Formats: sequence, C-alpha cells, structure tokens
Amino acid sequence: MLQGRLPSRVFRILKQAGELAERTSVSAFVVGGFVRDLLLGQPTLDLDLVIEGDGIAYARALARPAEAEVKAHDRFETAVIVFPDGFKLDVATARTEHYEYPTALPTVQRSSINEDLYRRDFTINTLAIRLNPGHFGELMDFYGGQRDLNKRTIRVLHSLSFVEDPTRVFRAIRFEQRFGFRLGTETLALIKGVGKIDLIHRLSGSRLSEELILLLSEEEPRKMIARLGALNLLHFVHPALKWSARLDVLLKAVPKVLDWYKRTSLNWADRKVSVAGASSGSPADLMDGWLVYFMALMEVIPSQAVGETLRRLKLSVRHAEKIRVSRDSSSKLLRRLARRPPLRPAEVYRVLVGLSDETLLFLMAKARSESVKRRVSAYLTTYRHVKPILTGTDLKTMGLKPGPIFKKILSQLLSARLNGEVQTKADERNLAKRIINAVTP
Ligand code: CTP
Repeated sequence: MLQGRLPSRVFRILKQAGELAERTSVSAFVVGGFVRDLLLGQPTLDLDLVIEGDGIAYARALARPAEAEVKAHDRFETAVIVFPDGFKLDVATARTEHYEYPTALPTVQRSSINEDLYRRDFTINTLAIRLNPGHFGELMDFYGGQRDLNKRTIRVLHSLSFVEDPTRVFRAIRFEQRFGFRLGTETLALIKGVGKIDLIHRLSGSRLSEELILLLSEEEPRKMIARLGALNLLHFVHPALKWSARLDVLLKAVPKVLDWYKRTSLNWADRKVSVAGASSGSPADLMDGWLVYFMALMEVIPSQAVGETLRRLKLSVRHAEKIRVSRDSSSKLLRRLARRPPLRPAEVYRVLVGLSDETLLFLMAKARSESVKRRVSAYLTTYRHVKPILTGTDLKTMGLKPGPIFKKILSQLLSARLNGEVQTKADERNLAKRIINAVTP
C-alpha cells in the first residue's frame, strides 16, 4: 500500500528512515494522521516519525546525507527535518506524558511506541507503521484504530482524554465532520460531560485558538460549527456564542465568497493589466480564509463579547484588528454601499480603500443585495489596482512645486480614471491643468 499510494520520493524517504533505524539499533515508525489518511485512501505528505530511542540524534543522522536542516526541541525530545526543497519530516522520541493537573503542560519520559500512542486523542490516530527492514510496512494497531476507521467512528482511548486536553473536543468534531464519521457513544457522552464542567478557564487561550483556526481552515467549517452548536459547545469560544439562523446564513455565504476569491486571484496571476494604468493583482496567499469565518462568528455576539474573545484567544494584533474593523464597521459600510443613486466607482473606492481582503470578503458574504456585492467585488478585482498615468514627476515637469496640491491632483486624477472620465495621458494632463488653474489665483 505504501508503495502504491505514495509518491516514490516519499516512499524512498521511509525506506531510508527504516534502514537508518536498523543501522543505529533503534525502531522507527510512521504514525498518526499519515497512517489514518493512507488507510482512508487519501494519503497526505505530513510525515510523523516516532523513534524508540533518541529521536533528536536519529533526526540529525537522517538529515546529514541529504544536507537537510534539523530544528530540535530538547524539552520534548522532538525535531523537524527540513529538506533543501522544503519538504518537512517530524521526528519524535517515543514518550509518555504525565499531567500534574488537568490542562497542565505535561512532564515527559521516554517510553515504547505503544505507550507513546496511548497518549493520543482518538483511536483512528493511534495507528503506526514499522519501518525497520524485515518489518517494513507492518501495521501496528494497539487500540482498535483500524476497527474504528472501518466503523467510521471517533473514539477516545480513555475517559480522561477530554479533561486532560479540552481542545480535543474541537478535534473530535473536526475529524467527525471532515471524514463524515460519527462520535462513538461513550465519546459523545464524555463530550457532553465536558460541555457541562467548566474547564474553559483552565485552558490556554492560544491552544484553543490554534484548534479553532484549524477547524475554520477546513473545507466545511459550517458543518463543524453547527455540530458544536448542537452539542452546546460553542460557549468554549465565548458564552454568548450560540448557533442561530443568522449565523447559519452567514456561514453559508462565506465559502461562496472564498471560492470566488480563489478563482479570481488565480486569474489575476495570469492576467496582464486590463484597465489602463492598472498594476497587477494581489497575492492570494496573503488572505486568511479562516479569518472570514471568524468574522462571521463575531458578528452574532455583542461587541463587548468580541473584545473578550479576542483577548482570551490571544489572536495576533494583526488578526484582531481586522476582526474588530469588520465587527465595528461592516453594517455602516454596507449601508453606504447601498446608497441611492448608486455610487460611482470612485465613491466605492473611497468607502473601501484600506480595508483588508478578509474584511472585504466578509462584506460580500454579509451583503444581501447583489449590487452591493458586485461593488465590493469590482473594488477587489479592479478599482483598487487602478492608478493615474501621471506621476509626481510628471507634475513637476509641468512646473508645479511639490506640496499638498500634488496629493489633491493625483487623487482627483484617480477618481476621474475610476469613473472613466479620462482615458489617455493627455486627458489626465488637461485635467491636471484645469485643477491647477482652479486653485492658483
Ligand atoms: N494530538 C493529540 N491531542 C491534541 C493534538 C494532537 O493527541 N490536542 C495527537 C493526535 O493523535 C495526532 C498527533 O498528535 O495524530 C499529531 O497532531 P496533528 O498533526 O494535529 O494531527 P493530524 O492527525 O495529523 O491532523 P490533521 O489531519 O488535521 O493534520
């Protein structure tokens, strides 16, 4: 299966990993999500190796011939190998973790592969494949992972799993909805129990936001949020957050605008300047899709609760700022965009200039009127790339002294170009002269 389903390069790395393990008298396994996805027929290239022995020393030895870089974390005895072409491989020392108290950071001790796998979240993530020659490709299934994959069930290994790490509640729902599985009966009961006890204050905000971001980065976050809502678990994000018809409408609109954005941004990369004077497009990878979903969640809770959520989740200043702008101004912006008579392109530009792509996409998702949506999309794809042909240097050669007048002229030239009132450089020059004459006595 490994040979058939993996790119040959990845297969070779696994072979080499096994051979090195044998030479250095340790046992090597590829574990977790990689094995799960391989068995599901959806192989990923996210490789996690576990070594019975010194994982960091092993990672260094594996990296050396390939001249790959190793970043080691001594405290956890883990390392990441980064190959020269950017391919990454996580290596961990087989270990057990003891929690001094629920939700604490664990203390770590070396152990065997089966103990290592015992500390994982769900049975479907406990599968391992041996890599040492002679046993290469053997599936190790200590906790019924294969049975649960076949039964399409998400099941925890023990009853304290969610107490030790309540972020697993989000993970359970994420995997359940991603794969179209069901929560096992006991696991469901445990999750409902966690919903009732107040672990939230003991859970670090940054770990919670990591999981929430992962969830909102999935293909269909709406299904996951709906399920969290049905299980009364959205209060983990904020007590005021509840599933509602309004939230449902917003969450249905978000993937449509994200798809649109991805399609148009791809076009941008291929497309040369189409509007006279327009510069080329914006890089799609700078836009965080999860943030648009996050904006939708924040839209349905009171403004004060938004501040509390952002502080608690410790989102970066950059992300928090984008969310705050959307929450505080989206309604006002949409009202301005809907004004009658319809805004001209230059007015649309002035309303939207400076907003993040995420906020603009959120506006599109929230807008009920098609014409308002079109105004935002025209800004994203066209208006914001438009520039006057004349530059400050041209104005200087026209005999004008640099000063506030420059800004005024360039801004009026931009408006005229957006509104289609000037076409050529000569048109712009004439307009500039008219503005100069009007302001100079
Ligand atoms: N894990 C865990 N508890 C957590 C986070 C992770 O037990 N709160 C374990 C899981 O068993 C998982 C492994 O750590 O297999 C690696 O985590 P991650 O990379 O997040 O999991 P994947 O299963 O690879 O998830 P994805 O498919 O979303 O990448």
